[in-house]
Amino acid sequence: MASDARAAEDGGAPPPRPVADGFLRFLIPAPKPRPAAPTTAPARLVPPHRLVAPPPAAPALLRPEERLHIVPPTRPDWLPPPPPRQPPAPPLRSPSPWVRPRPFPPAFGEPRTRNAGRFAGQVNGARGRSPASVAHSSGGGRSGSQKPKAAAAHKEKKAWVAVEKKGEDAGDDDRAAVSEGYSCGDETGTEAEDQLEPEGEQDTGGHRRGLDREDDAKNSLDMAANQECSGGGGERPSELVCQSNQATHSRGRMGRSQVECRPDIDTFTPGLLALYESLKPSEEHKSKQKQLVDSLAKSVSKEWPNAQLHLYGSCANSFGTSHSDVDVCLEMEIGTASTVEVLLRLADVLRADNFDNVEAITSARVPIVKMSDSGSGFSCDICINNLFAVANTKLLKDYAQIDQRLLQLAFLVKHWAKLRGVNETYRGTLSSYAYVLMCINFLQLREPKILPCLQAMEQTYTMNVDGTECAYFDEVHQLQYFGAENKESIAELLWAFFHFWAFHHDYRRDVISVRTGSTISKQEKNWTTRVGNDRHLMCIEDPFETGHDLGRVVDRQTIRILREEFERAAAVLQYNDDPCVALFEPYDYEN
Ligand code: GTP
Ligand code: MG
Repeated sequence: MASDARAAEDGGAPPPRPVADGFLRFLIPAPKPRPAAPTTAPARLVPPHRLVAPPPAAPALLRPEERLHIVPPTRPDWLPPPPPRQPPAPPLRSPSPWVRPRPFPPAFGEPRTRNAGRFAGQVNGARGRSPASVAHSSGGGRSGSQKPKAAAAHKEKKAWVAVEKKGEDAGDDDRAAVSEGYSCGDETGTEAEDQLEPEGEQDTGGHRRGLDREDDAKNSLDMAANQECSGGGGERPSELVCQSNQATHSRGRMGRSQVECRPDIDTFTPGLLALYESLKPSEEHKSKQKQLVDSLAKSVSKEWPNAQLHLYGSCANSFGTSHSDVDVCLEMEIGTASTVEVLLRLADVLRADNFDNVEAITSARVPIVKMSDSGSGFSCDICINNLFAVANTKLLKDYAQIDQRLLQLAFLVKHWAKLRGVNETYRGTLSSYAYVLMCINFLQLREPKILPCLQAMEQTYTMNVDGTECAYFDEVHQLQYFGAENKESIAELLWAFFHFWAFHHDYRRDVISVRTGSTISKQEKNWTTRVGNDRHLMCIEDPFETGHDLGRVVDRQTIRILREEFERAAAVLQYNDDPCVALFEPYDYEN
């Protein structure tokens, strides 16, 4: 090489060299090379099989016969022998770096079919995004390959044809699903579950992330398929298809539910605990919160001197992070006035006292006045006589004192939910309160149990709210070692939590119930049909208002979003080299 360079510098032609010497045998000079030095950079070889062409300007300067002939590469002998041919890894729902493809071969030693991934368009569409953009979101919006939109639409169309046909090749799907672990969506399952959707369910589309016409079309197809499945009549072929799909789904899910946690999961515990510590509100934060509450109490007492002010929600239940709002309940006699009238009056009082952005929201299930404090940056929700919230705040606080893993788990789950955009009840995902109940119930169900069921124990505390006894065992200092037999670390529990909600929970039949410390059936709750806006697709029983389903806001679109996120989270924790980063990567709304 050095002598070639020297020759070129001298203005002479490089000396001839053996054509097939080493890997340069890929480059065979054209028949009549010009003797002058090359005017452009030579082609570079990148081992093992890529020839990097000269810059595009070069061909214009050279005559055709001056160009190098490119010979199809053969493997250079200086490379080590190729590894034995691996069976193809199961395809990912989207190619993204946070998931390592599972190393084991497809089930039954057969080549992996692509069937199980064929509904990707359906699931992706449910998020209101094209498949390409889902590839992005899977990696926090920073990975995946872009596909032309037309191709994506075509794929989605094909997916729907497949939905109609899939009974025919359910066996294929079965095996694929069992073998595929986290690598792919469980679209079959989602569809099967929608069959339980009460008749008359209308999609409310359009108000969630990026719904578009394609989604609407898919929803209609979805609904049509569901209606076909749930409709009465004899054993029509469509029913057989639906049953087959359900069986396929549950077998596929069973396969995945058997996945065991990675053996090195505990190495991530310190990182997760550090994150948990960083999320806890600082002392300064707490004192600013107190200042806000004090000035609010002052304003309120001028107008309603007998009103009692209770803090509820995360600022009082121990699950508050440094981003949490302040929730306040005013307990007062309102006489003949309606709650709404009192709230409107309260809004006037607060405006007069120079609180910022005061707004009465009177149409909500629990009407509130919202306001913010520009000094501290806090936002504050104030409700009137919502004493159930005060009671469940105490319950959550008491649970939090039994085992510190509850606080750790719930902080991480809440943080994850906020970053992944699935903590937005107005968009059909779950409230922080719902996530905390999910965490409590999950720890009640561990073996050995980490949390007891306080409402099933001797009643040492009771509060009557509108004729309902909110009673439970609140002497929690006696329960400090309740979960000691269970040695699971926070990393293990976090993975198990997501894995449970991705693959174990039976969305079709079960209601999670902190009240009973178990799961109960939708049948038992009479939550099998849609009532008004309560869809009961994902059911979380309120511990005191037992007729209240915290998952009522979840609809057919968002149940898919949630499950996709649970699956993603479980996969990140299972396979990613740095799960503490990937897990909390913010959802990318742009793509
Ligand atoms: P962050 O503010 O997100 O930190 O959590 P939070 O615990 O304050 O939860 P959120 O603001 O969602 O709810 C406030 C409180 O309202 C809860 O802690 C419950 O006590 C009470 N609550 C009762 N029913 C509901 C419900 O259906 N939805 C919500 N969001 N809250 C409810
Ligand atoms: Mg709150």
